[in-house]
This record gives sequence, structure tokens and C-alpha cells, in this order.
Amino acid sequence: MRKGIILAGGKGSRLYPATEVTSKQLLPIFDKPMIYYPLSVLMLAGIREILIISTPEDTPRFEMLLKDGSELGLHISYMVQPKPEGLPHAFILAENFLAGYPCCLILGDNLFYGNDLTTLLRSASKQKEGAIIFACKVANPEKYGVITFDKANKPQKIIEKPTSPISRFAVPGLYFYDERVSAIAKTLVPSARGELEISDLNQKYLNMNELDVMFMKRGMAWMDMGTFESLLIASNFIETVQSRHGIKIACPEEIAYRMGFISSSELKELALQRHPEDYGKYLLDLLEEE
Ligand code: DAU
Repeated sequence: MRKGIILAGGKGSRLYPATEVTSKQLLPIFDKPMIYYPLSVLMLAGIREILIISTPEDTPRFEMLLKDGSELGLHISYMVQPKPEGLPHAFILAENFLAGYPCCLILGDNLFYGNDLTTLLRSASKQKEGAIIFACKVANPEKYGVITFDKANKPQKIIEKPTSPISRFAVPGLYFYDERVSAIAKTLVPSARGELEISDLNQKYLNMNELDVMFMKRGMAWMDMGTFESLLIASNFIETVQSRHGIKIACPEEIAYRMGFISSSELKELALQRHPEDYGKYLLDLLEEE
């Protein structure tokens, strides 16, 4: 079994005033709260035991939205991060939750979509030893953790937001680790910006020769949603794909059903509770189509 963590804290200061009284990860991406997108990724990876970490103010709001997850055939628990101390801080906070299980961390503001996504997630999730990260070619790598490769595509170095261009491969906010991750996170020291860095954690696994990198190729969309422009781009993207194909991207009820976490009668019950003339109608139509 692999456990999942969604890190959904931070101040959202680049989105002021939209985030003044709510969490960035609860803002809508077209027709759903942002957190539905990373939650769906964990579900597609077959992960059912999930911890959501957020700020003292926002954690109760996520709990109101997703409750204990049982409606979706999940077990969701919550934990407060008193202040943003960096992404690997999640593994220190979550040590008891992880209880020696391998895990997957996804950032609450990252969106993934693509044909091969489920296949990629399943193969990453199967691997129990070491760490797996992804590499995705982007136009603005300086905004991310960046990874370099040698001529044989062997990973060489991971650097957080390098000032000079060293590679066009960014590392998205989706990481798989073995059961040692909390212990290794505790050995990290804060960077110049005063936070533990996920790139340093990944570099440690690379130094131990226990880091695998999977490529997100063309046909895979990865976005982060931390600015007004990226919120709009993500919303437009979701709207375009959904309306063209008459589907919903990142509908947790649908994924729970398709993954076999809930039965058809449980899906029907959810559909009737969730605005059967609108969102729920989509769920009822799924059952009809079958
Ligand atoms: O989006 C992918 C990138 O995410 C990676 O390529 C980088 O290597 C990684 O460091 C991260 O970069 P960001 O600049 O996006 O990190 P940021 O500090 O903005 O944090 C990402 C999200 O995690 C953000 O929505 C807030 C949340 N967060 C962040 C920190 C530092 C927390 O919940 N707690 C924290 O302590």
C-alpha cells in the first residue's frame, strides 16, 4: 500500500486579494475547487489513504469539503502546518501518518492531464524502492526545480530555481518516495530562503543512486496554478477539453466509481445528493451510459 499527501498550505500571497479569506487550493478551476485536481491524481494512482496538510485557518475548510473521504471510498485525514517551512517539512509532520509506508506527495496547486497519466502513475506507484520524480520540458524552467541529464539521459543534478539556464526540464510537484523519506527529510537543512527544499531531498536520493526519473512527454499537460494568469489558463484548458468531449476532468466521484472504490448504487446516491439537475446529472448519465 502507498499513502498520499496533498500539501495545500502556503499564504497564496501572489493571489491577493482572492486568497485574503480563503485558501488558494479552494479557488475554482473552471467548475471545481483546485484541490479536486491533485486529489484525482492520487486516486488514479490507486491511493486511498490520504493526508491533507494546510494552514491553521484553511485546514477546517478542506475538512468541510472532503470530510473523512468515506463517500469516495477513501480515508482522508488532516494535519495543520503552522507555518510554511518547505515542501519536505510535510514528511516530518506526516511521520506517524506514513508509519513506514511508501508515499506520494502532490502539491495542491499542480494540475496534470493526459492520455498516459494513469499508466505513468500506476508504474510509479508500483515501485517500492527509492524515489521517483518526473521531468517535463517547459518554457520557463527558472521558476521550478530543474533537473539536468547526461548524454545517456542519466539524471545528474537537481537545482531549485537556478538563476542561469541549465536545462529545460522542470520537476513537477508530484513525487513518489519509499519508507525512508521522513528520516531523510530530517537530515535536510533550510536553504537561503529559510525553507527545506524538495530539490535537496531529491538530490539526496540521486546521490544514493536511488532516484528514478520518468519523462512527461508531449500529450501530457502539467500546470501550476499560483498566479492569476495561470488560474485563468488552467480554467480555460479544463473548460475547452470538458465542453468539447462532454466529460469532466478530475471528478472525484467518477474516478472513485471507475477505480472500483465505490459501487454503482453508491455513485447513484452521491449523484442525488450533489445537485442532480447539474453536477449530479453528469454522474447519473455515467450510470445510464453503461
Ligand atoms: O510546482 C512545482 C514546483 O513546486 C517544483 O518544481 C519546485 O521544485 C518546488 O519547490 C515547488 O516550487 P514552488 O515555487 O511552486 O513552491 P511554493 O513554495 O510556491 O510551494 C508550492 C505549494 O505548496 C504552494 O501552493 C504552497 C504549498 N506549500 C509550500 C510550502 C513551502 C505548503 O503548503 N507548505 C509549505 O511549507
